[in-house]
Amino acid sequence: MSVISGQDTAVSPSSTQAVSTQPKRRDRKKTAKRLTWITHLGAWVPLAVLIGEYFTNNLGIDPVREILFHTGTTALVLLVLSLAVTPVNIIFGWKQVIPLRRPLGLYAFMYVSLHLLTFVWLDYAFDLSFILDGIVEQPFVLVGTVAFLLLVPLAITSTKGWQKRLGKRWKTLHKLSYLIIILALIHFIWLVKNVYIEPGIYAAIVGLLFLARWNPVKQKLLRWQRQIRTRLKSR
Ligand code: HEM
Repeated sequence: MSVISGQDTAVSPSSTQAVSTQPKRRDRKKTAKRLTWITHLGAWVPLAVLIGEYFTNNLGIDPVREILFHTGTTALVLLVLSLAVTPVNIIFGWKQVIPLRRPLGLYAFMYVSLHLLTFVWLDYAFDLSFILDGIVEQPFVLVGTVAFLLLVPLAITSTKGWQKRLGKRWKTLHKLSYLIIILALIHFIWLVKNVYIEPGIYAAIVGLLFLARWNPVKQKLLRWQRQIRTRLKSR
């Protein structure tokens, strides 16, 4: 947040500048609106594809596993995208992406819920003792469950009302998203057993995103961003 507000206050030292930044601000708002629409539409595509595959009998020989893979991968991609919002703003100075963090996180929660529902309903037929055995026998499921449970308070408190009510504690609480993504990666790495390429790629991306948030790296990136902007303006 400090990055964003820092950029906000850097603008408009004089009234002439304030007037000249108005169209830019309007453009930014328009782009932000468009990006929000794209996010909402894009987030429903994986579910639409899954439903399409179900009705055309294209879920393969093990449909439940296919649904687990599909919902799990979509949830992970959305979690990574929501984590990427701040670094994208730090690196490129695109404030327009900031409002996307909330819908991306909520859609991630939706897909994790579908993923969990597939597990307890389609795979384990809501049989509680069977489900508990499945969790104990497969520790990667336990790790996934912890990640899901941690996502619940974040989804509930994602509204502006909760943000106000919790004040500073809201930020601390939402730092849980870092732990959630690490648990999601452990869940993925643990379950694949041999071929680590796909989870390895996700882990590398998440590592870079964490690095961009680390203050010494963040400050350097912000300096570069400012230098590039000044050079572009002076042309
Ligand atoms: C933040 C939470 C979670 C994320 C991001 C996540 C993500 C994933 C991913 C990416 C996969 C592998 C997809 C692939 O191989 O392409 C997967 C598989 C799976 N997940 Fe999750 N998951 C989460 C939580 C859970 C929970 C709560 C459960 C069940 C209680 C669960 C059970 C499973 C199972 C059973 C598989 C399939 C394993 C197999 O058959 O090989 N996951 N998950």
